[in-house]
Amino acid sequence: MAKNAYRAVYDSWMADPEGFWLREADAIDWIRPPETAFDASLGTYGRWFPDGTCNTCYNCVDRHVARGRPGQAAIIYESPITGHSRTITYAELLREVEATAAVLMDQGVAKGDRVIIYMPMIPEALVAMLACARLGAVHSVVFGGFAAHELATRIDDCTPKAIVCASCGIEPGRVVAYKPLVEAAIDEARHKPENVLVHQREQQAASLDRPGDLDLTALVEAARTAGRAVPCVPVAATDPLYILYTSGTTGQPKGVVRDNGGHMVALTWSMENVYGVEPGEVFWAASDVGWVVGHSYIVYAPLLYGCTTVVFEGKPVGTPDAGAFWRVISENRVSALFTAPTALRAIKKDDPEAKLVGDYDLSGFRTLFLAGERADPDTIQWAERALGVPVIDHWWQTETGWAIAANPMGIERLPVKLGSPTVAMPGYDIQVVDESGQPVPAGTLGNIVVKLPLPPGCLPTLWGDDARFRKAYLDAFPGTYQTSDAGYVDEDGYLFIMARTDDIINVAGHRLSTGAMEEVLSAHPAVAECAVIGVTDSLKGQVPCGFIVLKSGIEQDPEEIERELVQRVRDQIGPVAAFKRVVTVERLPKTRSGKILRATMRSVADGESYRMPATIDDPAIIHEIEDAIRHRGVGRAGKA
Ligand code: COA
Ligand code: AMP
Repeated sequence: MAKNAYRAVYDSWMADPEGFWLREADAIDWIRPPETAFDASLGTYGRWFPDGTCNTCYNCVDRHVARGRPGQAAIIYESPITGHSRTITYAELLREVEATAAVLMDQGVAKGDRVIIYMPMIPEALVAMLACARLGAVHSVVFGGFAAHELATRIDDCTPKAIVCASCGIEPGRVVAYKPLVEAAIDEARHKPENVLVHQREQQAASLDRPGDLDLTALVEAARTAGRAVPCVPVAATDPLYILYTSGTTGQPKGVVRDNGGHMVALTWSMENVYGVEPGEVFWAASDVGWVVGHSYIVYAPLLYGCTTVVFEGKPVGTPDAGAFWRVISENRVSALFTAPTALRAIKKDDPEAKLVGDYDLSGFRTLFLAGERADPDTIQWAERALGVPVIDHWWQTETGWAIAANPMGIERLPVKLGSPTVAMPGYDIQVVDESGQPVPAGTLGNIVVKLPLPPGCLPTLWGDDARFRKAYLDAFPGTYQTSDAGYVDEDGYLFIMARTDDIINVAGHRLSTGAMEEVLSAHPAVAECAVIGVTDSLKGQVPCGFIVLKSGIEQDPEEIERELVQRVRDQIGPVAAFKRVVTVERLPKTRSGKILRATMRSVADGESYRMPATIDDPAIIHEIEDAIRHRGVGRAGKA
């Protein structure tokens, strides 16, 4: 690969962004190919390929069956947690998707309707997503680790015609019954979907006794036996393919919208250029379909590109051991693995010398990609030594859908700088600015923004809420998209992502809102005020910790209240929040204008040096917090 190839590609995009993406659009089978790359007059900041029509399911499935891949594995399902595995070819995938689309169509699901999908890591989740795409319906997948209340919020926001769920998910040591959670969510929500279609799993079937309940498994079987063919519905490139909710600063999650055309173009480009894989190869993103990594790199990108994707229902450790990832790579000839640093930290903890790697033939494995949270140098170096392949950090967000910064393995492998996800990808003009929006010099920490327009594949808006989209992303630094990440660019153009500038924390690669947790805590009748902060954790990166001040006159035992609050967050947000600590304190540190000093509290808990904020109302309170943290063993400071 030519030296400076990355620079040449990036410059060619910079010189003619519209020409660049119009050329890349040729990789897609369009129903009507776009003549216009970008129309700045449409939407909130413009729309990509406004005159193109297409169908995402056709590009992921049908065209591979028609053009040489019917017998190639589309999906390898590896489920160490249930002891099952299964391979589905592209031809079989087409039959499954058509059968599921037929069932949805029979229930009246049509172009533009929303369908919520609440499923664990099973092939039926991908099939349901593709079936929606086939019909032009808009899916919204909700991660299985979220509780009923989170599901209810999403039901009310996107008003789905139907919910597709599985009867259960399997977590180590327990079966999670999904149907009762769906029922509780529908009972709580104002909007009532017409049908709940349940895929019955053998581990635990669900009762289907409410009006509108349907047995998806039986209906799909009947549709398959009848050989039901369902054509792909043409949609505008700008029509929504899906809505994926992600944490905002409040309890109301943001409905990130993804379109059809730009999304296909960007993801296809990324497979070749960022991940450096070939059609026909096996690509594995060890994430969950409930997250953006799952949407982009378990489902859409590998299938668009004619790869084989791996659906892994298990954990990096304990299913059965820390060699699970290496077994899956070796048995399935995986070329590239994409996972979160947390997964590697978990493996490293159980198998520090990576002895289990030696049990497997990893000769076909070329690259390990990491994203979702900051990749710490220790973990990167451990993985490089253990696996003998390049370990590539890259940075992106639910909002963008694909890498903002990466080391473009398909263009040129740039030297790795530990702690940096490398350089901006074509499409992204990254700038680091101060609070007044002025660019800062190289090496200086600031707000990371992307000059508008965002490239194809990025969100055009939030579902039904252009105003919130503008306020959250466009208003602070006019002419740019605000990433809400802080960091810096060095002299060589390498980006370093240091922290979020909002109340989002990253727990085991899962993005969570401390604001949403605070809403749960403050709803407790005994709680006067509260603050939730993300405390550094050696396995999960960060874990939440709540601080509460009780109302005066409360006689209930504070420890009991703390336990109730932990349970409330688990019940309302879900186990994924990993919310296990609450500390009762007398007072919270605040500025003179009443703003809680969460950042200072975080520094205290992490045992970092901090400067007493000049605006603090009463410095003594910080020392009280310090004492409480030490006394209760919170964070690094508490363990010291
Ligand atoms: N359905 C129901 N519950 C779920 C769930 C799901 N799909 N996924 C997770 N949970 C539950 C877990 O059972 C756990 O519950 P518990 O409190 O009763 O133990 C809780 O949510 C936290 O789960 P998790 O974050 O998976 O932590 P863990 O302690 O069970 O496992 C790791 C630790 C490191 C193995 C795990 O976090 C991991 O695999 N991380 C990889 C991160 C990743 O892939 N991120 C995706 C973004 S790219
Ligand atoms: P999500 O939307 O869930 O993908 O989370 C996006 C956020 O995760 C980003 O805004 C960052 O704060 C963080 N993040 C993702 N990838 C990286 C990375 N490679 N390095 C540092 N932080 C990251």
